[in-house]
Amino acid sequence: MSASTGTGLLETREPPAAPRLLGFDHLHWWVGNARHAAYFFAHGFGFEVTAYAGPETGVRDRQSFVLEAGRCRFVVSSPLDPDSEMAEHIRRHGDGVRDVAYAVESAGTAWRAAVRRGADPHQAPVEEETPEGIVSTASVRAYGDTVHSLIERGSYRGCFLPGYEPAGPGRGSTLEVPAAVGPPAGLVGYDHVVANVEDHRLEDWVQWYETVWGMSRLQHFGDEAISTDYSALRSTVVWDGAEVVQPINEPAAGLRKSQIEEFLDYYRGPGVQHVALRSADMVASVAELRRRGIRFLRVPDSYYDEAPDRLGELGRDLPWARLKELGILVDRDPDGYLLQIFTENVASRPTVFLEIIQRQGARGFGEGNFKALFTAIEAEQARRGNL
Ligand code: FE2
Repeated sequence: MSASTGTGLLETREPPAAPRLLGFDHLHWWVGNARHAAYFFAHGFGFEVTAYAGPETGVRDRQSFVLEAGRCRFVVSSPLDPDSEMAEHIRRHGDGVRDVAYAVESAGTAWRAAVRRGADPHQAPVEEETPEGIVSTASVRAYGDTVHSLIERGSYRGCFLPGYEPAGPGRGSTLEVPAAVGPPAGLVGYDHVVANVEDHRLEDWVQWYETVWGMSRLQHFGDEAISTDYSALRSTVVWDGAEVVQPINEPAAGLRKSQIEEFLDYYRGPGVQHVALRSADMVASVAELRRRGIRFLRVPDSYYDEAPDRLGELGRDLPWARLKELGILVDRDPDGYLLQIFTENVASRPTVFLEIIQRQGARGFGEGNFKALFTAIEAEQARRGNL
């Protein structure tokens, strides 16, 4: 803990209560070309551009677009200065998620608690007073170069955060931004955000989320559950008991290179592997995303020979022919079933991708699909010459 994080004379030895999180606030992507990334998420996934920051709004060093789909919020930013931290981050990692930001009631209280409980400070709390109200933010370091910002909006009435202006049709904006096109793709909210961490560090990071954030373990998958002939991984899901659900993966030994190792090689370290977004109508969403040109991992057709058996009675009314045509995966657990699908990597490097998921009771992550899925991922990995 650094000297700047002291909490004053009343500091006691007992660690304070864990920060209470109000869910994911936004995911901040640092990318090579924010305008293109905004166009991609708007046109490909049906996000709506709702806010903008850049030189036109008095922000001199970057260009940022805020995109929303249901309750999901992405921010994509590119630096205007080649010597900036953001430019260096992009040079090193390629496009990726820099910040998994949490919404909190009090950024100051949450940040001090997180730091007292062992988090590495990144940005001390800053309170910004604007005519539209007060916003407080702070951040701590997480895995790799990823950070967790803490965002407190209170009664702030402004658009996203200070420095941003409303964008898009109907918002009185004169800024030219990429608009959403076509019918919505039906994405309604976050489901989970997944981290890949270094070999043998999984347990450390799980404990970090337990200690710093008071999270608990929801599920664990050993390499025997998640392996193919070639590659394997171990995974533990931590959550805050509510909306913040974060699986963490580490590579495990296999005959060939684990897909997690490939990520770590190309991202140059740990980072966000995938972001899962919820749909309320998977068939309609995936059909629309495909129409928009989004590409998904293909599973072998043979997958659909055994999937109905795996689902049993639960899958009786599912539109199997349509699921097969769209490549949607299906899994069950004691609580129900789920439908899911994974996009190809959304950046040039084989690193981050998105998942679309619909839950019908099931609380799992599609472990029954891991084998079929990994076979598909490895086919892609082999095409890149990395298997
Ligand atoms: Fe997932």
